[in-house]
Amino acid sequence: MFEEVVTGIRQLFGDPEGPIPLHAPWFDRADEEAVAAVVRSTFVSSIGPDITAFEQELAQVTGAPHAVAVVNGTAALHTALVLAGCGPGDLVLTQPFTFIATCNAITYTGAQPVFLDIEEDTLGLSPEAVRTWLERECERRAGRCVHKATGRNVRACVPMHAFGLPMRIEALMAECDAWGITVVEDAAESLGSYHTDGRHTGTTAPLATVSFNGNKIITCGGGGALLFQDGALARRAKHLTTQAKLPHAWAFSHDAVGYNYRLPNLNAALVRSQLRKLPHNVAVKRALHQRYLRLFADTPWTMVEEPAGTRSNHWLNALLLRDRTERDAFLAACHAAGVLARPAWELATDQPMYADALRGDLSVSRDRQDRVVNLPSSAHP
Ligand SMILES: Cc1ncc(COP(=O)(O)O)c(C=O)c1O
Repeated sequence: MFEEVVTGIRQLFGDPEGPIPLHAPWFDRADEEAVAAVVRSTFVSSIGPDITAFEQELAQVTGAPHAVAVVNGTAALHTALVLAGCGPGDLVLTQPFTFIATCNAITYTGAQPVFLDIEEDTLGLSPEAVRTWLERECERRAGRCVHKATGRNVRACVPMHAFGLPMRIEALMAECDAWGITVVEDAAESLGSYHTDGRHTGTTAPLATVSFNGNKIITCGGGGALLFQDGALARRAKHLTTQAKLPHAWAFSHDAVGYNYRLPNLNAALVRSQLRKLPHNVAVKRALHQRYLRLFADTPWTMVEEPAGTRSNHWLNALLLRDRTERDAFLAACHAAGVLARPAWELATDQPMYADALRGDLSVSRDRQDRVVNLPSSAHP
């Protein structure tokens, strides 16, 4: 049943001898030179010119007024949530259809996630689901959004741009602003993706995060960054992620419990070099998406396309099967042929840590978890 499309996928990648990975990083001579130059300079750690240069370049590429580089996307999320004021006893709204790091970063602060549904087309947190839950479950007390049943403050909201598809951030911001809830955009997967108004993902909310993990559209092995609208918040992030050390030529004075989250100069040099390839990688991925659309055009299965008017980086191509049984049969056929497709994440609410978490209706999340498969999407087949 799946033979033709699986063969077609292999052909898209030139039918190589071995397996076709879901997503492989790609490095060129310039990347090698960038790393070698840092090694020669000995500035491989927390001090070096590439960190600040990268922050400026990332801000320029995304259009974010400020960027702060950190060790990975999870650390970026943790820092953003601390800056949003999240702490023990707070509630943070998010989607269960996401990589687990989104939820764990909330838990690191002592807050608890509340899982709400996603939209069918964007696969991002539904502004309507957020409005419905807030109106039904919460009330305003002295400018705070309080969950009536537990008395806890709803402090923040973390939507995610799944697989690079821009979610409806403006509509979500409108809901959250009305309740005084700070939005943190998890843009780990969406570097190079744009909203209908041409704004880069991660540049609408006051705080946003990206990842440069090995499977992302550009990588430096491990790395991440925060994007800010506000310079004072960015300076605070820099301070907290560098052990909250007060600047001094030799004294060790710290004014808060900070974190060792600063991106090493070695990684910064590599990601600077990779950032120059972002437009090229996006173009290759968008072309690959078109080829997948043609491959699945006359089949009962549907490619997930970018929401109308947006421009996705198509980091991971996603295919919708008709049900979970069919999805598993498709995955089995792919793996038997060395096509390393994979299912979407199990919902966070199905993981033991979040089994008892507060939640709304999750029917779209459940449906997409059962039916979505990610197809091999390397930028350089
Ligand atoms: C949606 C999402 N959030 C957060 C992360 C965490 O990023 P990192 O692996 O750099 O910690 C990732 C990916 O790894 C992700 O896909």
